[in-house]
Amino acid sequence: MRATTHKTLLSSVLIALAALFSHAASAVKSPGLADTPPMGWNSWNHFDCEINEQIIRDTADAMVESGMKDAGYEYINIDDCWHEERDAQGNIQPSKEHFPSGMKVLADYVHKKGLKLGIYSDAGATTCAGRPGSRGHEYQDALTYAHWGIDYVKYDWCDTENINPIGAYTTMRDAIHASGRPMLLSICEWGDNKPWDWATDIGHTWRTTGDIYPCWDCEFSHGSWSSWGVLRILDKQEGLRKYAGPGHWNDMDMLEVGNGMTADEDRAHFSIWAMLASPLIAGNDLRTMSEQTRQILTNRDIIALNQDALGIQAMKYIDEGDLEIWVKPLAGGDWGFMFLNRADIAQKYRHDWRAHLVKDDISNHQIDFAQTTFHWRDLWQDREGDTRKPLAAEIPAHGVVVLRLTPVD
Ligand code: GLA
Repeated sequence: MRATTHKTLLSSVLIALAALFSHAASAVKSPGLADTPPMGWNSWNHFDCEINEQIIRDTADAMVESGMKDAGYEYINIDDCWHEERDAQGNIQPSKEHFPSGMKVLADYVHKKGLKLGIYSDAGATTCAGRPGSRGHEYQDALTYAHWGIDYVKYDWCDTENINPIGAYTTMRDAIHASGRPMLLSICEWGDNKPWDWATDIGHTWRTTGDIYPCWDCEFSHGSWSSWGVLRILDKQEGLRKYAGPGHWNDMDMLEVGNGMTADEDRAHFSIWAMLASPLIAGNDLRTMSEQTRQILTNRDIIALNQDALGIQAMKYIDEGDLEIWVKPLAGGDWGFMFLNRADIAQKYRHDWRAHLVKDDISNHQIDFAQTTFHWRDLWQDREGDTRKPLAAEIPAHGVVVLRLTPVD
C-alpha cells in the first residue's frame, strides 16, 4: 500500500517535472536577439502597400552603400501587403506579381549583404490591409518563414475581436520556437492591452502606441482611429520606462526621418527615439534620401546612446512646459542629456548644472554636479565644455540639443 502510494507520488512528481520542462522548453523567445534596441528599415511608412522585391533589394543595397549598415542598421523589414492568398494546403505565399522570385531568394540576397530579413503578419484572420493573417496557421507560418530564412516577425493586431492577446502572441512565440529558427518577435498591438505588463518573456519589442504620422505635434484622424505626431507619441510613454531593458523594449513605432518634417524636427525625432531606447527602424526611401537625412540617420553618437549596453530608457528630469530635459544613464558613468524645445520658436536656455541633483530611482543612478565634474560634447554641433560653468544653449524651434557627459577624474 505504502509502496504504491510512493510510486504514485513519484510518478506524479515526474509528470509534473516533465510538464514543467516541456513548458519551459516551449516558453522561450529567441534569446540574444535584442540585447540593444533593434535597428533596421521597414517598408510601411513610405511605401504603404506599394512594395515589390526590387524595392526590397534596392533598399538592402542602399543600406550598405549609405553607411547605414556600418552605423548599426541590420534588418530589412517587409510590412503588410506582400501576401497572396494561401495555397490549397494552407501555406502562405508571396504575391506572384510583386515578389515573383519568392521570399527565399530575397532572404538569400539580403543575407549576402550581411543584413537580415523581416516579415509581417497579424494575429487575426486578416491583416490591417486585408491580407491573410496567421490565425489558425501560426505554426505553419512560422515554419514557412523559417524555411525562407526570415529573421524578424512583426505581428499585428487587426481583426482580433474576441482573441486573447497574451494567448495570441504566446502562440506565435511558441510557433517560432518550434520552427527551430531564431526570429525576433515584434509585438504590434499598439499598447491596447498593456503589453509591458505581460510581454517581457513573449516578444522582443512591443509597440506602445498607435501609428506614427510625420508631423511634430498633430493627431491625424483616419475616422475610427488616429495616427500621432512625434510629441504625441513621446507624451504617451509616461510611466513606461521601467518596463524596458535588454531583450524587451518599448517600441515607439518606425521612424519618419526623411518623410517630410523639417531637419530640426527630424533631428529631435531621431534623438528622442534614441534616448528612449526605442527600436530605430527607418521608414523613408533609402534609395533616394537626401544627404541631410542620411547624416541624421547615421549620427553614430546619437545611435550610441540608443545602443548603450545598460539599456536604460531615458527619464524626463526637468519639465518647464515647452522646455524639457531628458537624461539617460550610460555604461561607464557617462550620461546622455537632451534639451527638447517643443515650442514653435527657438529658445535660449541657461542651465546651471550644479543647481540640480539628477536622481534616477528606477535605475539607481545619480549625479551631484557639486561633487563630480563632467566634460560634455554636443552630439549634433561641434562644441564641448564642462559642467563647472552653466550651459548656454540656443535650442531650435521643434528641436533638441543633445550632449554626452563623461566624468572627469
Ligand atoms: C498597422 C500597424 C502599422 C502597419 C499597418 C499595415 O496599422 O500598426 O505599423 O504595419 O498596420 O497595414
